[in-house]
Amino acid sequence: MSTSTAGVPAWNRHPEPFEELISSQAIAARVAELGAAITADYASLIDKADVVLLGVLKGSVIFMADLARHIALPISLDFIGISSYGDATVSSGVVQITQDVSRPLEGKHVIVVEDIVDTGHTVHYLLQNLATRRPASLKLASLLHKPERSERDVAIDYLGFTIPNKFVVGYGLDIAQRYRNLPFIGVVTTP
Ligand code: IMP
Repeated sequence: MSTSTAGVPAWNRHPEPFEELISSQAIAARVAELGAAITADYASLIDKADVVLLGVLKGSVIFMADLARHIALPISLDFIGISSYGDATVSSGVVQITQDVSRPLEGKHVIVVEDIVDTGHTVHYLLQNLATRRPASLKLASLLHKPERSERDVAIDYLGFTIPNKFVVGYGLDIAQRYRNLPFIGVVTTP
Protein backbone atom coordinates (compact mmCIF):
# COMPACT_ATOMS: atom_id res chain seq x y z
CA MET A 1 0.00 0.00 0.00
CA SER A 2 1.14 3.52 -0.68
CA THR A 3 -0.21 6.95 0.13
CA SER A 4 -2.49 7.91 -2.68
CA THR A 5 -2.45 11.69 -2.85
CA ALA A 6 0.89 11.71 -4.71
CA GLY A 7 0.19 11.84 -8.39
CA VAL A 8 -3.50 12.59 -7.96
CA PRO A 9 -4.50 15.88 -9.59
CA ALA A 10 -5.56 18.66 -7.24
CA TRP A 11 -9.14 18.63 -8.53
CA ASN A 12 -9.35 14.99 -7.57
CA ARG A 13 -8.31 15.39 -3.94
CA HIS A 14 -10.82 14.59 -1.24
CA PRO A 15 -10.84 15.73 2.38
CA GLU A 16 -10.45 12.31 4.01
CA PRO A 17 -7.13 10.48 3.97
CA PHE A 18 -7.09 7.30 1.97
CA GLU A 19 -4.60 4.70 0.83
CA GLU A 20 -4.29 3.10 -2.54
CA LEU A 21 -5.28 -0.56 -2.63
CA ILE A 22 -5.32 -1.21 -6.39
CA SER A 23 -3.50 1.10 -8.78
CA SER A 24 -5.06 2.45 -11.95
CA GLN A 25 -2.41 0.54 -13.94
CA ALA A 26 -3.36 -2.75 -12.27
CA ILE A 27 -7.04 -2.04 -12.89
CA ALA A 28 -6.40 -1.21 -16.56
CA ALA A 29 -4.44 -4.43 -17.09
CA ARG A 30 -7.09 -6.58 -15.40
CA VAL A 31 -10.01 -4.91 -17.22
CA ALA A 32 -8.24 -5.57 -20.54
CA GLU A 33 -7.96 -9.26 -19.60
CA LEU A 34 -11.64 -9.44 -18.69
CA GLY A 35 -12.58 -7.78 -21.99
CA ALA A 36 -10.47 -10.28 -23.90
CA ALA A 37 -12.10 -13.18 -22.03
CA ILE A 38 -15.59 -11.86 -22.80
CA THR A 39 -14.63 -11.35 -26.46
CA ALA A 40 -13.43 -14.95 -26.71
CA ASP A 41 -16.47 -16.37 -24.90
CA TYR A 42 -19.10 -14.47 -26.90
CA ALA A 43 -17.51 -14.40 -30.36
CA SER A 44 -19.43 -17.47 -31.48
CA LEU A 45 -22.73 -16.34 -29.90
CA ILE A 46 -22.98 -12.83 -31.27
CA ASP A 47 -24.43 -13.87 -34.64
CA LYS A 48 -27.35 -15.67 -33.02
CA ALA A 49 -28.43 -13.16 -30.38
CA ASP A 50 -27.49 -9.68 -29.19
CA VAL A 51 -25.03 -9.28 -26.35
CA VAL A 52 -25.95 -6.61 -23.79
CA LEU A 53 -23.63 -5.20 -21.13
CA LEU A 54 -25.98 -4.24 -18.31
CA GLY A 55 -24.41 -1.83 -15.84
CA VAL A 56 -25.78 -1.50 -12.33
CA LEU A 57 -25.97 2.20 -11.51
CA LYS A 58 -24.03 4.03 -10.34
CA GLY A 59 -21.05 2.10 -9.07
CA SER A 60 -20.37 0.20 -12.29
CA VAL A 61 -20.21 3.10 -14.75
CA ILE A 62 -16.46 3.62 -14.81
CA PHE A 63 -15.66 -0.10 -14.89
CA MET A 64 -18.30 -0.58 -17.58
CA ALA A 65 -16.95 2.23 -19.77
CA ASP A 66 -13.46 0.73 -19.69
CA LEU A 67 -14.61 -2.88 -20.00
CA ALA A 68 -16.83 -2.12 -23.00
CA ARG A 69 -13.85 -0.71 -24.88
CA HIS A 70 -11.97 -3.99 -24.45
CA ILE A 71 -14.76 -6.12 -25.90
CA ALA A 72 -14.08 -6.45 -29.61
CA LEU A 73 -17.65 -7.39 -30.55
CA PRO A 74 -20.77 -5.41 -31.53
CA ILE A 75 -22.42 -5.26 -28.10
CA SER A 76 -25.04 -2.87 -26.77
CA LEU A 77 -25.05 -1.08 -23.43
CA ASP A 78 -27.89 -0.65 -20.99
CA PHE A 79 -28.25 0.30 -17.34
CA ILE A 80 -30.41 -0.63 -14.39
CA GLY A 81 -30.75 1.49 -11.27
CA ILE A 82 -31.25 -0.16 -7.91
CA SER A 83 -31.32 0.97 -4.33
CA SER A 84 -31.07 -1.10 -1.19
CA TYR A 85 -33.29 -0.44 1.76
CA GLY A 86 -31.82 0.07 5.20
CA ASP A 87 -28.41 1.06 6.44
CA ALA A 88 -26.11 1.93 3.55
CA THR A 89 -23.24 -0.15 4.93
CA VAL A 90 -25.30 -3.24 5.85
CA SER A 91 -26.90 -4.94 2.87
CA SER A 92 -30.43 -6.10 3.64
CA GLY A 93 -30.90 -7.88 0.34
CA VAL A 94 -34.15 -5.98 -0.13
CA VAL A 95 -33.58 -4.18 -3.38
CA GLN A 96 -35.77 -1.77 -5.29
CA ILE A 97 -35.39 -1.16 -9.01
CA THR A 98 -35.31 2.62 -9.38
CA GLN A 99 -34.60 2.71 -13.11
CA ASP A 100 -35.32 -0.18 -15.40
CA VAL A 101 -33.62 -1.24 -18.63
CA SER A 102 -34.44 0.65 -21.82
CA ARG A 103 -34.95 -2.43 -24.04
CA PRO A 104 -36.35 -5.90 -23.24
CA LEU A 105 -33.74 -8.52 -22.31
CA GLU A 106 -35.66 -11.49 -23.64
CA GLY A 107 -33.57 -13.63 -25.98
CA LYS A 108 -30.39 -11.61 -25.40
CA HIS A 109 -27.06 -12.60 -23.90
CA VAL A 110 -26.90 -10.40 -20.82
CA ILE A 111 -23.70 -9.65 -18.91
CA VAL A 112 -24.47 -7.81 -15.67
CA VAL A 113 -21.67 -5.41 -14.74
CA GLU A 114 -21.30 -4.71 -11.01
CA ASP A 115 -18.76 -2.73 -9.03
CA ILE A 116 -18.52 -5.10 -6.07
CA VAL A 117 -20.05 -8.24 -4.65
CA ASP A 118 -19.98 -7.80 -0.88
CA THR A 119 -22.53 -9.93 1.00
CA GLY A 120 -23.93 -10.95 -2.38
CA HIS A 121 -27.54 -10.06 -1.47
CA THR A 122 -27.92 -7.28 -4.05
CA VAL A 123 -26.63 -9.25 -7.00
CA HIS A 124 -28.47 -12.39 -5.92
CA TYR A 125 -31.75 -10.49 -5.98
CA LEU A 126 -30.91 -8.78 -9.24
CA LEU A 127 -29.95 -11.98 -11.06
CA GLN A 128 -33.15 -13.65 -9.90
CA ASN A 129 -35.17 -10.73 -11.18
CA LEU A 130 -33.35 -10.62 -14.53
CA ALA A 131 -33.71 -14.38 -15.02
CA THR A 132 -37.50 -13.99 -15.07
CA ARG A 133 -37.09 -11.82 -18.20
CA ARG A 134 -35.92 -14.85 -20.15
CA PRO A 135 -32.53 -13.74 -21.48
CA ALA A 136 -30.71 -16.22 -23.75
CA SER A 137 -27.99 -16.28 -21.10
CA LEU A 138 -27.14 -14.35 -17.96
CA LYS A 139 -23.63 -13.84 -16.62
CA LEU A 140 -22.00 -11.59 -14.07
CA ALA A 141 -18.90 -9.42 -14.29
CA SER A 142 -17.78 -7.76 -11.07
CA LEU A 143 -14.74 -5.59 -10.59
CA LEU A 144 -14.37 -6.58 -6.93
CA HIS A 145 -15.35 -9.37 -4.56
CA LYS A 146 -15.07 -9.46 -0.77
CA PRO A 147 -15.36 -13.19 -0.03
CA GLU A 148 -15.01 -12.71 3.75
CA ARG A 149 -18.37 -10.95 3.77
CA SER A 150 -20.19 -13.44 1.57
CA GLU A 151 -23.66 -14.46 2.74
CA ARG A 152 -24.98 -15.65 -0.61
CA ASP A 153 -23.43 -18.01 -3.12
CA VAL A 154 -22.96 -15.87 -6.21
CA ALA A 155 -21.06 -17.15 -9.24
CA ILE A 156 -18.95 -14.33 -10.65
CA ASP A 157 -18.14 -15.25 -14.24
CA TYR A 158 -15.70 -12.38 -14.81
CA LEU A 159 -13.99 -11.12 -11.64
CA GLY A 160 -11.47 -8.30 -11.47
CA PHE A 161 -10.00 -8.58 -7.98
CA THR A 162 -10.62 -10.32 -4.69
CA ILE A 163 -10.13 -7.84 -1.84
CA PRO A 164 -9.98 -8.03 1.97
CA ASN A 165 -12.87 -6.99 4.18
CA LYS A 166 -12.32 -3.24 3.91
CA PHE A 167 -14.60 -0.49 2.69
CA VAL A 168 -13.18 0.67 -0.62
CA VAL A 169 -13.78 3.71 -2.81
CA GLY A 170 -12.80 4.96 -6.23
CA TYR A 171 -13.15 3.80 -9.84
CA GLY A 172 -16.93 4.12 -9.45
CA LEU A 173 -17.30 3.13 -5.80
CA ASP A 174 -18.41 5.75 -3.29
CA ILE A 175 -18.99 6.76 0.26
CA ALA A 176 -22.00 9.10 0.33
CA GLN A 177 -21.56 9.72 -3.43
CA ARG A 178 -17.96 10.87 -3.10
CA TYR A 179 -14.74 9.33 -4.43
CA ARG A 180 -16.32 7.75 -7.52
CA ASN A 181 -13.95 9.72 -9.74
CA LEU A 182 -10.72 8.47 -8.18
CA PRO A 183 -8.80 6.63 -10.91
CA PHE A 184 -7.72 3.85 -8.47
CA ILE A 185 -9.31 1.78 -5.70
CA GLY A 186 -8.57 3.16 -2.26
CA VAL A 187 -9.33 2.51 1.38
CA VAL A 188 -10.41 5.45 3.49
CA THR A 189 -8.25 5.64 6.60
CA THR A 190 -9.81 7.38 9.59
CA PRO A 191 -7.24 9.67 11.18
P1 IMP B 1 -24.01 -6.54 -1.21
O1 IMP B 1 -25.50 -6.64 -1.39
O2 IMP B 1 -23.62 -6.65 0.24
O3 IMP B 1 -23.23 -7.50 -2.07
O4 IMP B 1 -23.61 -5.06 -1.56
C1 IMP B 1 -23.48 -4.61 -2.82
C2 IMP B 1 -23.46 -3.10 -2.92
O5 IMP B 1 -23.03 -2.45 -1.70
C3 IMP B 1 -22.47 -2.71 -3.97
O6 IMP B 1 -23.04 -2.72 -5.27
C4 IMP B 1 -22.01 -1.35 -3.50
O7 IMP B 1 -22.91 -0.36 -3.97
C5 IMP B 1 -22.11 -1.41 -1.98
N1 IMP B 1 -20.81 -1.72 -1.37
C6 IMP B 1 -20.45 -2.87 -0.76
N2 IMP B 1 -19.17 -2.82 -0.32
C7 IMP B 1 -18.71 -1.61 -0.69
C8 IMP B 1 -17.42 -0.95 -0.53
O8 IMP B 1 -16.45 -1.47 0.02
N3 IMP B 1 -17.35 0.31 -1.05
C9 IMP B 1 -18.38 0.93 -1.68
N4 IMP B 1 -19.57 0.35 -1.85
C10 IMP B 1 -19.75 -0.91 -1.36
